Amino acid sequence: QKEPLLKGKKLLISAGPTREKIDPVRYLTNHSSGKMGYAIAEVAAKLGADVTLVSGPVHISSPRGVKVVNVESAEEMYEEMIVRFADAHIVIKTAAVADYRPKYTFEQKVKKNDGDQQLELERTKDILMALGKRKKNQVLVGFAAETNNVDVYAKGKLEKKNADMIVANDVTSAGAGFGTDTNIVTLYKRDGTKTALPLMSKHDVAENILKEALHLHEDERK
Ligand code: PMT
Repeated sequence: QKEPLLKGKKLLISAGPTREKIDPVRYLTNHSSGKMGYAIAEVAAKLGADVTLVSGPVHISSPRGVKVVNVESAEEMYEEMIVRFADAHIVIKTAAVADYRPKYTFEQKVKKNDGDQQLELERTKDILMALGKRKKNQVLVGFAAETNNVDVYAKGKLEKKNADMIVANDVTSAGAGFGTDTNIVTLYKRDGTKTALPLMSKHDVAENILKEALHLHEDERK
């Protein structure tokens, strides 16, 4: 009998949105359902990997055999990813992390008045970039959710964030991106190659990503 493909491999995956608190009743977030990241975690576990999934708030149940670490904010996700990074062989950053958060979180509910309101925002930490800086021999895979210029932005992220592969999805295409059960992605690698996959289930996208990531991991060990 053949060994499962990812046996003995430690995978660290992030999924879902983050929530950035404004006050006790309000927050900033995005449309990520967690489906893409959970599909990767589920397929990886089925392929025999030891999987940790750091997840923002979602409404889907934990995949079988996966260790789930629940977080809310970008800061919490940063902390959980950083402490687990050194130990991992393959890291896949599917989460849609907030780039900005409210500069102040109000302790009491903000009351309305008759005029307009302004919300001051500050940058969150870029987790992918921080992992890229710490990278030793981990294979680091990032995503790029774009609405235009996908090619340029995906190649830019590959370089700037020191990733080994970027999975780009044009979130304006039908059947791709947030909330759907399917996705349309292009895989960008550091050797300059680019593989455009057709529309397929997030489950099948996950399988493609994991196989590519495993090849990169095997190359790393040669
Ligand atoms: O969850 P679903 O509903 O299934 O939707 C899937 C998805 C659209 C969320 C997924 O396919 C996807 O594209 N995820 C990445 C979303 C995103 O935040 O993309 P980005 O282009 O803004 O970020 C690029 C990369 O940097 C991502 O790997 C992201 O995790 C990472 N990042 C971003 C900001 C930040 N502060 N820290 C990060 O690490």
